[in-house]
Amino acid sequence: MVGSVIPSSRFLARKMLGSIDFKTAKVIIELGPGNGVFTRMMIEQLSPDAHLLVFELNDAFYEALKREINDPRVHLIHDSAEHIGKYLDQYGLEEADVVLSSLPLANFPLVLKNKILSESHRILRSNGLYVQFQYSLNAKKVIKDFFPSLQISFTPANFPPAFVYTCRK
Ligand SMILES: C[S@@+](CC[C@H](N)C(=O)[O-])C[C@H]1O[C@@H](n2cnc3c(N)ncnc32)[C@H](O)[C@@H]1O
Repeated sequence: MVGSVIPSSRFLARKMLGSIDFKTAKVIIELGPGNGVFTRMMIEQLSPDAHLLVFELNDAFYEALKREINDPRVHLIHDSAEHIGKYLDQYGLEEADVVLSSLPLANFPLVLKNKILSESHRILRSNGLYVQFQYSLNAKKVIKDFFPSLQISFTPANFPPAFVYTCRK
């Protein structure tokens, strides 16, 4: 479920966040924050009126984030990533500008991969951004099925080295 024992490097974080325009992005979804390396970097750049919905399924990571992050713009959600729509409704939000995912898709059954990607695609606004990192190209086909417009870049300065998929709806 976790996919890695070592948190992502700041190099990978910079690459993951590099395409986000924080001035205009008002609704950002993060899937699989783990210990929150990307979450904290996003909080530093979030607009005052932005919402960041963070989905973490693991009890220990969720509890630690809850203790450490206290920001009214951040909504920590202890639920699985395929339920994004339910929580957008709950917070009165219509659509998202960005979905940033660290989920280990390669380890997921196909049904779950499809659910998460189709839900991410559905709730993104037109031309919205989907960013995903993976340690292999294993999930390329399934990501491309939902986001045909995609770019892949490689980050050797991470352990393990990672591929970043940057996609537009
Ligand atoms: C590879 S770790 C990434 C952690 C961190 N973002 C990083 O890059 O260092 C993947 C995270 O996804 C979480 N996760 C796995 N399945 C999930 C699901 N269905 N919904 C939400 N989070 C999930 C795991 O608990 C883990 O924290």
